[in-house]
Amino acid sequence: MKLSARLSALAGVSALVVGALAGAAPATAVPSTASGAAAVTPPDISVANVKQHLADLQTIANNNGGNRAHGRTGYKASVDFVKAKLDAAGYTTTLQQFTYNGATGYNVIADWPGGDPNQVVMSGSHLDSVTAGPGINDNGSGSAAILETALAVSRAQLQPTKHIRFAWWGAEELGMVGSKYYVNNLASTERAKISDYLNFDMIGSPNPGYFVYDDDPTIEQTFKNYFTGLGIVTEPETEGDGRSDHAPFKNAGVPVGGLFSGADYIKTATQAQNWGGTSGQAFDRCYHASCDTSANINDTALDRNSDAIAYAVWNLAAGTTTPPTGTVFQNTTPVAIPDNGPAVTSSVTVSGITGNAPSTLQVGVDITHTWRGDLVVDLIGPSGTVYNLKPYSSSDSADNVKTTYTVNASAEVANGVWKLRVQDKATYDTGTLNSFKLTFP
Ligand code: TRP
Ligand code: ZN
Ligand code: CA
Repeated sequence: MKLSARLSALAGVSALVVGALAGAAPATAVPSTASGAAAVTPPDISVANVKQHLADLQTIANNNGGNRAHGRTGYKASVDFVKAKLDAAGYTTTLQQFTYNGATGYNVIADWPGGDPNQVVMSGSHLDSVTAGPGINDNGSGSAAILETALAVSRAQLQPTKHIRFAWWGAEELGMVGSKYYVNNLASTERAKISDYLNFDMIGSPNPGYFVYDDDPTIEQTFKNYFTGLGIVTEPETEGDGRSDHAPFKNAGVPVGGLFSGADYIKTATQAQNWGGTSGQAFDRCYHASCDTSANINDTALDRNSDAIAYAVWNLAAGTTTPPTGTVFQNTTPVAIPDNGPAVTSSVTVSGITGNAPSTLQVGVDITHTWRGDLVVDLIGPSGTVYNLKPYSSSDSADNVKTTYTVNASAEVANGVWKLRVQDKATYDTGTLNSFKLTFP
C-alpha cells in the first residue's frame, strides 16, 4: 500500500477519527448510540449464502455415504453444522434427542433471545434426507433458507415484539417423527404460546411452482403480500396436505403456514405460463432420488422463497431493528486488491476493551469486486489466529462482498491489532477493499 494513498484517504475521513491514531492504522473508536426503534425493513436474503449452506450440506452427504438420513452419520454431521452456525450467531440452541428405528434422532431448536415469551413465531424445516441421496431440494433448501434467515436476524440484532424460534427436524422422511416428538413433549402451556408455525419443506424445486399453504389466514396473507409485490401469482399448496412437519402443529391447534415449490406432481400448462419452466414434467424430477443434489435447485425460486421467509418472520414478529450497541473500530482507507496477486490487509487497533473478544464479534467487510468468487477473506486476530470469513469459490460470479460476519473470537484478547486479509486468487477480475469494521457488542 502506498503511503501517499493512505495519507490522502486519511484526510478524507478525518472527521470520523476520534482520539489518537495508533501507528499508521486509521482506526476510529466510535461508541455507538442506540437511536431507538427503526423501521422494520426485512432484509434481502443473499441467495449466494443460502447456496453456500447447500454446498456444505452436499459436502456432508458426499463425506458420509451419499445421504443425510436419520440414523446415518450424515444426519448428525448436518445437525452439528447448523448448530455451530447458530451458536456463533448468538442463538440459544438445544439438541432434542429421540429414538426411532433403534437409532438416535435429533431436532435442533434455536431461540433468539428476547421478544415476548408468550408469543412465539416459530419457523421449521426438516434437516434429514431420504437414504437414496443427499436431499438438497428435499430438504436442504428449507433448512438452508431458515438458517440464513436466522443469521440475518442476528446480523440485524433484531429486537422483535414476539419471540423468534427456529427448528430443524429429524426423521421427517420416516413420518414426521422429530416434529411429532417435539409437539408431543411440549407442555400445553408452551404449545399455546406458539402464535405461528411456519414450515419450509422443498422451496428450490428445479421446475418450480409457488405454493402457499392455505391454513392460517394471516400467515397465508403475509406470504401472498410478498409474492404480489413481486408480481408472482401463487396457488394454495395441495400436494398432500399434512405431508410435512406443520401437520403435528396444526393437529395441536397451532396456526400454521408455509411455502412449497413442488415435489412429484406434474406442472400444468397454466402453471408453466405463470411460472415458467416445463409443463408435463414434475416440479422435482429428482424427488427422493439420488439426483437430488446441489444441481437440483432453481436459484430464482430459492431466492424468492428465502426472501419471503425473512419477510414473514420480520412482519409476523414485528421487529424493530436497533443498531448494534457497542464499540466500533474501523478502517476506511481503500486498498486496491491486485489481480491474482499477493494478499493485502487493512488493520484496526483495538484498545480500551477489557478481557477477551466476544463470541459474537461483528466483522463488517466492504469490498467492491467484479467477481467475488476470486477472493479469500480472513480475519487475523492480535494473536495471529486466522479466522476464514469467505473461501475461494470459482463459481461465485456475483459482485462485491458487503456483509457483516459474526466471528467467535472468544479465545482471543480483544486489545491489539486486528487485520482483514484479502487475496484475489484468479486472473481477470479485480477490486478494492473499501472498509473493515469491528463491532464489540
Ligand atoms: N417432505 C415431503 C415428503 O417427502 C415433501 C412434500 C410432499 C411436501 N408434499 C408436500 C411438503 C406438501 C410440504 C407440503 O413427503
Ligand atoms: Zn421428502
Ligand atoms: Ca481476479
